[in-house]
Order: sequence, then structure tokens, then C-alpha cells
Amino acid sequence: MLLLLTLLITLDTVLPLSMDTITATLTNLPEESRYNFTQLANKYSLQAREYDILTEDGYILTLFNIPGDKTRPVLLGHGIFGTSDIFLTRGNTSFAYILAGEGYDVWALNVRGTKYSRRHVTLDPDKDKAFWNFSIQEHGFYDLASNIDFILEKTGQKSLSIVGISEGTTITFILASTKPEYNEKIRVFIALAPVVYLQNLSPPSSTVMQFSTEINYLLEAIGQEEVFGYKSIYKAIYNIICAQKIGYDLCLRFGVFPVTGADSAELEPEFFIASLGQFPDGTSRKNLAHYAQIGKNKRFAQYDYGREKNLEKYNSDLPPLYNLTKATLDTALICGKNDKISTLGDVEILRRQIPNLISYRVMEPEFFNHLDHVWGKNVHKISYPFILKLLSKYN
Ligand SMILES: *[C@@H]1O[C@H](CO)[C@@H](O)[C@H](O)[C@H]1NC(C)=O
Ligand SMILES: *[C@@H]1O[C@H](CO)[C@@H](O)[C@H](O)[C@H]1NC(C)=O
Ligand SMILES: *[C@@H]1O[C@H](CO)[C@@H](O)[C@H](O)[C@H]1NC(C)=O
Ligand SMILES: *[C@@H]1O[C@H](CO)[C@@H](O)[C@H](O)[C@H]1NC(C)=O
Repeated sequence: MLLLLTLLITLDTVLPLSMDTITATLTNLPEESRYNFTQLANKYSLQAREYDILTEDGYILTLFNIPGDKTRPVLLGHGIFGTSDIFLTRGNTSFAYILAGEGYDVWALNVRGTKYSRRHVTLDPDKDKAFWNFSIQEHGFYDLASNIDFILEKTGQKSLSIVGISEGTTITFILASTKPEYNEKIRVFIALAPVVYLQNLSPPSSTVMQFSTEINYLLEAIGQEEVFGYKSIYKAIYNIICAQKIGYDLCLRFGVFPVTGADSAELEPEFFIASLGQFPDGTSRKNLAHYAQIGKNKRFAQYDYGREKNLEKYNSDLPPLYNLTKATLDTALICGKNDKISTLGDVEILRRQIPNLISYRVMEPEFFNHLDHVWGKNVHKISYPFILKLLSKYN
């Protein structure tokens, strides 16, 4: 398995694919699997606007807006390997669609490194390794902060609401603890499948984490800074295999479910195939390494560069912890019993540390997993009414 991965990654470094080749791997899929956020919105009779956001450190990010009541902005934060599009994949039962229907001004961000945000004022993502020198630290500290500032200026509001899933929750906690002035800019934070601690993982994720140092060295050695990039050979192979009927079963049962928790009733074949164009999307090697450190070291802390460089950069042996006491924003935690990434055990550790918990909810269904929060077939019935009620108290 590891060998195969190495081979693919090596191939990818040697043979970067063109966008046309990748699009070709998707031609037997439903048309909407090739749509971007704006096109998806249009398909469901919504208008979307696109904005370029410039971060303090020179990254250019795409931010989407489905215009609504300017006094009620809601910002959606996607998970790792995802983009803004995950909030529209379910069509007229998607969260973005439903929020728009309730009159909210809907905004959906895309962190640096995703297909929409592979841009920088000077660095070239295809040539400059330095482009990929980022992790959740920069996603929170720069990307999320810039998006919030832009939206507040555009809407003339002093604050907005955030609904994030998975990495979208990590980066909100990072922003709120590293730039505490942002707590006031967030009316309420609804955290779906929150990911802050990662010490209760099970195989295969825990196994990968165990070998994360070695995997990271390997990737670094062969110069693989972008992981699962939308133009990568393994994304193409994944598309080709997973778009077939038999492939669907292989991919979902043996690829996705072992990591996220299995829930085949909520994630049916037709839907999974439609999601292939949008998922997975790229991130950096450093980002994965950062998450692995958080799990292995049992510390929600900044990136660990090793003792010597830590001393130089942070003036301490270990990287500084993110101080969750400073994350004073009103926070709701929503989790699932069968979520193998945002486990109930790890959410419990987080829950005890955040100062202003307004709601803690474990979804009823036994098999509710990591992806069901945005992709479940019935999530619009069993979760969104609850989220809308929370939002309405602040908006
Ligand atoms: C989305 O697709 C539309 C139609 O092809 C295009 O005009 C727009 O620039 C695309 N937006 C992004 C951010 O890729
Ligand atoms: C979504 O659209 C389909 C038809 O395209 C319709 O049958 C269904 O009722 C709609 N669902 C909702 C929740 O609006
Ligand atoms: C990556 O960026 C950090 C600052 O965020 C810097 O300390 C570090 O030296 C950079 N690493 C490389 C390999 O350029
Ligand atoms: C964390 O933040 C709180 C509130 O600002 C502060 O009282 C506490 O000393 C901080 N803890 C550390 C370890 O810096």
C-alpha cells in the first residue's frame, strides 16, 4: 500500500498532468461534477458572485457569495481536501442552498492551496516550493482573517456568523486564539465535526499517524509539497477508478469509509460519483504533517520544526499551544457517534476547554459520520433545522 502510494507520488512529480487530462477522467461523470461553485449555484437558480481576497502574506483566495440580507452574513468553512463546493454538492438540499432560501447572505471561503486559491502575488504553486509552506496556522491566522475582514467591509456589518466543518473548525479556533480581537467579529460559531484534538483515532488513520514522520520525510525528499492536487496523477487515477460502478464500492468502502466512518445509507452511489469532481482537492504536505503532530504529541499547538528551529522561531523547545481560553466566541459543537476523525473522545477534550459553549449536540443516528454533516442524504431534515434555529438567535 505504502509502496503503491510512493510510486504514484513519484510518478506525479515526474509527470504532472494537464488540466485537460484531468477533465477527461471526469467526462463519464454527471455534468455537475465538473461545475464550479458559481455554476452549481446557477444550476439551482441561485446567483453567485466571486471575489479575490488578498492575504497579508500575498496569497490570492477565491471567496464566493450568494447575496442575501446584508445584515445577516454567514461564512462557510470547508474541510481538508474540500472546497466551498461541498456546501452545494447536495443540490437543493445543500446547506448553502437552504441558508440562501432563509434569506441569509451566504459566503463560502477557499483556503490557500485549494484549486480556487492556488495563486500568489509572486510565488508560482507549480514551481515554487515556498508556496506550499503553510498549514492550518496560516489558514486561520491569514486566510480566515482576510475573508472575515472583507465580508464585514462589504456588508457594513461589525460581525458575522461562521459554520465550519472539520478543518473549517480547526482554523476558526486557531484564529480566535491567536488573534483574539476576532472573537468580537463572530456572532456565533457552529462547529460541525470539530477537529482540534486527534488522540482517539483508530486504524487506518492512527497507523498513518504513527508513520507520519517517515511519510513526511519521504514526501519532502521527493519534493512533493502539494498533496492530492487537482492536477495530480493520483487524483486522475482516483477519478478513473471511483467513477465506475464497481469502483464506487471499492473507493467508498475501502478508501473513504475506513477514515470517515461508514454510512452507506446516507452516502449513496449516485451522490458519491457526483462528488468526485469536487473531492478530494489539494492541500500541502506541511498541513498534513501539522495535523499528525497535533495527534501524535497530544498538543493543539503551532507547527513543530524540531527543537533547534523551535528555539529560534518560538523561543522555546516545543511549539506554543493554541490558547483556547482566548477563543471566547459563542460556540456550538455538533458531532456524530460514528465519526472516526472528530471522535466523541476528542470533542470532549475540546468541550472542556472552550469558555463559551452554547450547545453540544451528538447526532442521533448510530452511523452519523464525518461527511454526513454536509453530505448526508437526510441531513437537511435531521440537522439543518437545528442549525438554523441556533443561527436565528444571533441573526
Ligand atoms: C466558474 O465557471 C464560470 C463559467 O464557466 C466562469 O465564468 C467562472 O470564472 C468560474 N469561476 C471560477 C472561480 O473558477
Ligand atoms: C429538490 O428538487 C426536486 C426536483 O428537482 C424536488 O423533487 C424536491 O422536492 C426538491 N427538494 C427540496 C427539499 O426542495
Ligand atoms: C516556512 O515559513 C516559516 C514562517 O511561517 C519559516 O519560519 C520557515 O523557515 C519556512 N520554511 C521554509 C522551508 O521555507
Ligand atoms: C491563556 O489565555 C488566558 C486568557 O487570556 C490567560 O489568562 C492565560 O494565562 C493564557 N495561558 C497561557 C498558558 O498563556
